[in-house]
Amino acid sequence: PREKGWTDPYIYLFQHIWCRQPHIKAIISFQKHFQAKHDDIIIASLPKAGTTWLKALAFATAKRHRFIPSQNDHPLLNSNSHTLVPFFELTIYSDNNPNYVDPSTLPEPRIFGTHIPFPSLSNSIHNSNCKIIYICRNPFDTFISFWHFSNNMILSQSSQSLPTLTLEEAFERYSEGKHPFGPFWSNILGYWKASQDKPSKVLFLKYEELKADTKFELKRMAQFLDCPFTQEEESGGIIDSIIELCSFGKMKELEVNKSGKIPDRRIIENKHFFRKGEIGDWINYFSPEMTEKLSKVIEEKFDQSAWSHPEEE
Ligand code: A3P
Repeated sequence: PREKGWTDPYIYLFQHIWCRQPHIKAIISFQKHFQAKHDDIIIASLPKAGTTWLKALAFATAKRHRFIPSQNDHPLLNSNSHTLVPFFELTIYSDNNPNYVDPSTLPEPRIFGTHIPFPSLSNSIHNSNCKIIYICRNPFDTFISFWHFSNNMILSQSSQSLPTLTLEEAFERYSEGKHPFGPFWSNILGYWKASQDKPSKVLFLKYEELKADTKFELKRMAQFLDCPFTQEEESGGIIDSIIELCSFGKMKELEVNKSGKIPDRRIIENKHFFRKGEIGDWINYFSPEMTEKLSKVIEEKFDQSAWSHPEEE
């Protein structure tokens, strides 16, 4: 089945995932070819859930012995986190990508990103000891962030003349689950369920909790990655340095994120990954009807334990 797309004329349902046409080929190629290593780290998310931030935090944490977070030659000061942590389906296995990276040449621990739902990850990932960190964000804010991002993407593709989506059009599609790597409920619940295994290869984080207590969540993440912060590191301020290095204010103001571009199949301007970085911006956009409708979808599709409902926060 195909439906009207967001940044493309159409999106297609493939393996229960709504995706753009180039993603289909990339997903097949990824499933066929990717060979996981036991110490690989995978950052998984829905678009606009906080991927850019989590990639930066994971990179800074897992590679802190090689790159000192407080030093002014840290790679995150000169590169966007999507360049340092490439996506399987958007970068590595995407056809004709000028930004191609051969995964076997990446230094260990290798860190990848993906929006692909848990059941569709490659068997090699399922059968290895690699670790997955998933970031979930409340669907209200994720939607508003995605709507802005899609419209910015369309506007910056000068070769295309796609109409931007009105909020209402976009909302209809989103609440039916018809958006890239959606439906959002399947994507979130797939990782949520996997995170409940004991032991689990999935650590399930929430954007809202990461914002509320970044230090606590970062320590949890380091523990999960088998590289917990030592007492000496903590008292030496390394956790604070990582939090500062990856903070919204710091990242947004870096030259690479103000004027840099990712030369993917489509050129993406890094600045579009940094909009407001706040919780609850949806309230400025939702009508009472939209709020009611999305709340109902959430109630129907989710086990309440997956995350707390935004109105209850
Ligand atoms: P908003 O559009 O609500 O501002 P993704 O990285 O998955 O594409 O998600 C982008 C969203 O995360 C945007 O949300 C962006 O502003 C926010 N974001 C980017 N970097 C961040 C950071 N370092 N800290 C907190 N939020 C960040």
